[in-house]
Amino acid sequence: MLKAFTSTLVLLAASIAAAAQPAPVTFDSTAKVFRIDGGGSSYVFGVNARGELQQIYWGGRLAKTDSFPQARTMPEWASFDSSYTNTPEEYVGWGSGLYMEPALKVTFADGNRDLELHYLSHTTVANGFDVVLKDIGRPVYVTLHYTIEPETGILARSATIENRGATAFTIDQAAAAAWALPAGHYTLNYLTGRWAGEWTLNQEAVHAGARVIESRRGSTGHQANPWFALQAGASDEEHGEVWFGALAWSGSWRITVEQDQLDAVRVTGGFNPFDFGFVLHPGESLETPAFYGGYSAHGLGGASRLLHRFENAHILPRTGAKTETAAAPRPRPVIYNSWEATEFRVDEGGQIALAERAAALGVDRFVMDDGWFGQRKDDHAGLGDWYVNKEKFPNGLKPLIDKVHGLGMDFGLWVEPEMVNPDSDLYRKHPEWVLSFPGRPRMEQRNQLILNLARPDVRAYVLGFLDKILTENDIAFLKWDYNRNWSEPGWDQLPPVEQKRVYVDYTRSLYTILSELRRKHPKVEIESCSGGGGRVDLGILRYVDEVWPSDNTDPFDRLTQQDGFTYAYTPQIMMAWVTDSPHGINRRINSLSYAMLSSMQGSLGIGANIVAWKPDEMALVKRLIAAYKQVQATIVQGDLYRLISPLNGSEFSATQTVNSDKSQSAVFAFIHSTQEGRGFPILKLKGLDAKAVYTLSSIEGKARAGTPETASGAWWMNHGLEMDDDFRGDLQAAAFRLDRK
Ligand code: DGJ
Repeated sequence: MLKAFTSTLVLLAASIAAAAQPAPVTFDSTAKVFRIDGGGSSYVFGVNARGELQQIYWGGRLAKTDSFPQARTMPEWASFDSSYTNTPEEYVGWGSGLYMEPALKVTFADGNRDLELHYLSHTTVANGFDVVLKDIGRPVYVTLHYTIEPETGILARSATIENRGATAFTIDQAAAAAWALPAGHYTLNYLTGRWAGEWTLNQEAVHAGARVIESRRGSTGHQANPWFALQAGASDEEHGEVWFGALAWSGSWRITVEQDQLDAVRVTGGFNPFDFGFVLHPGESLETPAFYGGYSAHGLGGASRLLHRFENAHILPRTGAKTETAAAPRPRPVIYNSWEATEFRVDEGGQIALAERAAALGVDRFVMDDGWFGQRKDDHAGLGDWYVNKEKFPNGLKPLIDKVHGLGMDFGLWVEPEMVNPDSDLYRKHPEWVLSFPGRPRMEQRNQLILNLARPDVRAYVLGFLDKILTENDIAFLKWDYNRNWSEPGWDQLPPVEQKRVYVDYTRSLYTILSELRRKHPKVEIESCSGGGGRVDLGILRYVDEVWPSDNTDPFDRLTQQDGFTYAYTPQIMMAWVTDSPHGINRRINSLSYAMLSSMQGSLGIGANIVAWKPDEMALVKRLIAAYKQVQATIVQGDLYRLISPLNGSEFSATQTVNSDKSQSAVFAFIHSTQEGRGFPILKLKGLDAKAVYTLSSIEGKARAGTPETASGAWWMNHGLEMDDDFRGDLQAAAFRLDRK
């Protein structure tokens, strides 16, 4: 019954880190079973007796010698649920009475909409397979791409849909991949939010039916993020099985988590089928985004540590990294950003005054935000006119940039390239460039409209002006903002049946512009901002170095936001500014050291009106920036342990990170509001080398009197770190580092 694997191919992907071992990928030609192993996981699928490609196993890594029989289809359930709908296919076409979410749905020119994809052939590629499926009758070909990252076991899946026939057909719905888990009890985790309230972790039992997580907005969105994690049974933060996934797409997307009629679970994700329609002419193909998936046996914490490592080593650009295959990009420069200090009122003198203060604090990068261009006095005008405003900068940007350089910092600039205000020269010249339905009302948001980036002329214009700004000025960094969602996604230059391809072409154009800019200006770094965290996903992260998680910089709110963010994304990209208190969002009063420690858990920035800071505030922040830089790489690229979650109104929260060789660790502890005299819980640290000896030093705050200065990793992990008895009150924070002796 158990068949020997007939071929074992071990190939090294050019794109993976040099240190990583290649992943074994095997195909058993007798049982028609494909197997891909990586990290602590195995992924197995095969061709069933009907010829469909069926999911077989996804979970903990199996022994090399283990093998599988041919995939067995699920039986029909009475006369209402056919075997076709009960069997979890890798990429199922809509047809034959499928009631579950299809991966692919098409409409043929003759009105036929039945699609049944069967296995045709496959090739072995580096760390994976390309498997070709074909409809049982018509020339619709789908190549499924599988590649595993050997260290983390994270699998990248995507599909290429081809029309090899003589007549066009329309793709109504196209997923990147579908993942399947057997019947069981699962908890679904997903992230939702709104402007200034991003990154809320939702946890709910999976029940019969579908939970849809999506964006219909043309971009990723604040309201939901394309990430999920499914926990089995009693899995928690550090224990138990977790399957997780993240979609690499910055346009409208959808992930559907369904429990079927036999209690099995499927997760299907890709282009959002809402208002979708992509005409595939003879000889054309459509590539879906990638849907990444991974498995951890160490709870949600283990899952996020795998994702962080994977994002750092394999997704993010390597700007400034020592080598192309370095395990992570360089830690972010500590930035200063002018937005909360000056809003649109930027000018040469004011920015120089801020820059002098920023340099005195030890800031590495000075970023001038919105307001420097066109006739931009507020948000009513100027977007689209990317020339320097002469009233604010009579001599252009050069004097400011030179000054910033002279102060030892590099210079960054805010842009919002995809937008236009109707009150702009660009709009007056090219009203036809915006997304709209002609003759219908057109909704402005923040007084702006969206340029249709899918148009080649718009793409050329946007690329052209950005290239010009970067060529004419010594700029190290762009903060790329995007402050509204789509409302009328019309593209009337195309024939009516083709117009919906705007959902694909717009996002592809955005990626093309970003990658072309990076090619022409390889040293320039970019931040993805969309009024905060509205465009954070593994698609955009291939082209940007960091993201702005939220316009909400209240340091207490940031604790829960940062907690939510880190389930899916690495702290390396999580920019966190310290701003003035009370912050406008909540009017909360907090100390500067509390704000600093909250932000120091990510990539630190300062966004306050620092010209008004008193000497003691300057001194505190200068000291903490210096302390931060000594542990920054550990904090943003190390293994993160969410020791105490700030969720659900917790009185306390704490995080810990440990670097890859376990020589350093950083610990942050926060009290929201002490209640009934409860002291801070002992923090049992994690991830240290039990046998090594570590020295504890304070970054801010004190450990309990009598805490040893040095102790073994075992002591810190088993006995734990105790806070000072006086660590009580409202909005208190402490931070420590441990260094191996
Ligand atoms: C929204 C961003 O999130 C803010 O940080 C700031 O850049 C403003 N836009 C500027 O208009």
